Amino acid sequence: MEEFIVEGGHKLSGSLQVKGAKNSMLPIMAASVLNSSDGSVVLHNIPNIYDLHVMKNILDSLGFKVEYQGDTLQITPGEEIHYVIPDDFMREMRSSIFLMGPLLARIGKVKLTYPGGCSIGPRPIDLHLKGLASLGVQVREENGYIEASAEKLLGTDIHLDYPSVGATENLIMAAVLAHGKTTIYNAAKEPEIVDLQNFLNAMGCQVRGAGTEKIRIEGVPAAGKCHYRIIPDRIVAGTYLMAAAITGGEVTLHEIIPSHLDAVVAKLKEAGVEIQGTEDSLTVKDGSLRAVETLRTLPYPGFPTDLQAPMSALLTKARGDSLIVENVFEARFQHMEELIKMNAQVNVKDRNALITGVERLVGARVNATDLRAGAALVLAALAAEGTSVIQHVWHIDRGYESMEKALKQLGARIERAGGPDPSP
Ligand code: EPZ
Repeated sequence: MEEFIVEGGHKLSGSLQVKGAKNSMLPIMAASVLNSSDGSVVLHNIPNIYDLHVMKNILDSLGFKVEYQGDTLQITPGEEIHYVIPDDFMREMRSSIFLMGPLLARIGKVKLTYPGGCSIGPRPIDLHLKGLASLGVQVREENGYIEASAEKLLGTDIHLDYPSVGATENLIMAAVLAHGKTTIYNAAKEPEIVDLQNFLNAMGCQVRGAGTEKIRIEGVPAAGKCHYRIIPDRIVAGTYLMAAAITGGEVTLHEIIPSHLDAVVAKLKEAGVEIQGTEDSLTVKDGSLRAVETLRTLPYPGFPTDLQAPMSALLTKARGDSLIVENVFEARFQHMEELIKMNAQVNVKDRNALITGVERLVGARVNATDLRAGAALVLAALAAEGTSVIQHVWHIDRGYESMEKALKQLGARIERAGGPDPSP
């Protein structure tokens, strides 16, 4: 079982370049299935994270040749495209659900096991299935499988009950080759959806309005090859800004898009963190941490749920009481009991967590339960007195490329130890 061993109490300093966004990479890799040319889709700025390899294996199993070199991914369609997503991959990564839209658009059918919930909540897919049905897809669910097929997809108006990121992305990918126009209302507005739109348009599709709550898609006969560079990862960037802040260090992050972090920067400043920025970088300087009255997670452009856990870690050392309200997922406070093992003072009730800042965190042996919770524990360990051990770091590897190498580059005392985890 792989673990991180962290010696706390060292200020981070220096600079770091942030790689491409996991939550852009995954839907865009799925969208490459739409390519019916004899050429390849080539993607740049691809981070070497665990979920990349899972999605690569899925595309391999569907008949695509996928080559990863440096930070570039080349995806080439094979002679025959398969439509069954192997069970193991569905269990390993919920984002396999992103393949429904493109496979239905490309070959008119898909079969997959129902994606399970995970540690942060049941993660239903009702909005995905309802939207696909409105595009003319027949969806059959039996014995834990979903079989979906469509003679042809017909453009239509779709009103999402909730601005689901995945449902918005899946439905855009299903609609790009449909007959006629599709409009998605109450769409999610995350930057990764704008990235997906730009990628699809580079393939010859016609998508407009991503980043707003109304997305319009004009069906086209086919999509082709293209080269595309994905956007930097705003959640990884936010995590490292918080790592600098919790250690009282000074760190600059390069090649990021600061405007993607507006809500995060505003909340960090409210917490007493000194932050300066240029058009492609952000610098955190030492500041004295103070509690924030309320932190509410919301769909973009609100404060992102994916940075709630790292921010919680930061607030355990901020003078005063901070109330955290997790509005997006049902069970995203599992990191709190691990933080309490490190002397944090937290009271959790349903979707609310009240954090009272403490003078000192102490090193402990703690468990990562999901990738963002794991990141939060590393941040707390960096600021704790003594040594901490964070177990099950494969969760962290899903979304952070060699977190220990990145933090060491900034002066952290962190080592990876133990044997490789059995694949999850
Ligand atoms: C995406 O998940 C991200 N994953 C998540 O990042 C992120 O936390 C989430 O969006 C919210 O921003 C990827 O992009 C790969 P949702 P997704 O559909 O699409 C409910 C990380 O740490 N819902 O916007 O699954 C759902 O239960 C991961 O990088 C339905 O009820 O998020 C949740 O409560 C974690 N029915 C809420 O909507 C549906 O059909 C938000 O889910 C779909 C969703």
